Amino acid sequence: MKEEELVSLTEQYVRQTLEGEGSGHDWWHIHRVRNMALHISGVEHADSLIVELAALLHDIADHKFHDGDEEIGTETARKWLVKIGASDSIITQITTIIKEVSFKGAGVATPMSSLEGKIVQDADRLDAIGAIGIARAFAYGGHKNRLLYDPSIPPEMHDSFDTYKKSTAPTINHFYEKLLLLKDRMNTKTGKKLAEERHQFMLAYLDRFMNEWDGNK
Ligand code: ADP
Ligand code: NI
Repeated sequence: MKEEELVSLTEQYVRQTLEGEGSGHDWWHIHRVRNMALHISGVEHADSLIVELAALLHDIADHKFHDGDEEIGTETARKWLVKIGASDSIITQITTIIKEVSFKGAGVATPMSSLEGKIVQDADRLDAIGAIGIARAFAYGGHKNRLLYDPSIPPEMHDSFDTYKKSTAPTINHFYEKLLLLKDRMNTKTGKKLAEERHQFMLAYLDRFMNEWDGNK
């Protein structure tokens, strides 16, 4: 199968699967990650087919919505890629990226073993921070019935994927447990630059949130 066909069939499949998703992992998240990843890929001279397919498939079945099952994403992607006749090399590269890409807790390193993976991880993380990141965090929190904030529950720096996955803390905690840590974990120069701006915006947002919480007029 031609490269363009692999991409267009995968786009249709992902779009249909994630169309009405209500926790910030919907088709438009994938669309933004794909565009950002392709932009960074151009700057970094990476393999754009791998970047694009991995960006499209990275959230096709997430552990967060499948009882913490860590294999479901790679397995779902593998089955799809086999079905459309992708080569073994493409399948291995994409499933490796999906396996490595996710944040797994403040104290857990998540190194990417390929340039293409580094790019997809940066693009995914850029969509987790800034104005859109804030919106997605609260959408996710609502979806999971989480409180916005509870000053009596302090953030936790999780040192294993398991404890991170089991957390049910309020959404504001997620800023300290993940979102504010991302700028120092970006892989590419482009990613670092964009993350810095989005990070500053989140700090300003949190400042204002706490001010309003404290009843300041
Ligand atoms: P990752 O694979 O790194 O988790 P995703 O693209 O699957 O990245 O999406 C992560 C996004 O899901 C977060 O940036 C956030 O918006 C939301 N999310 C995940 N866990 C939480 C949480 N505990 N509280 C609030 N939002 C969360
Ligand atoms: Ni994602």
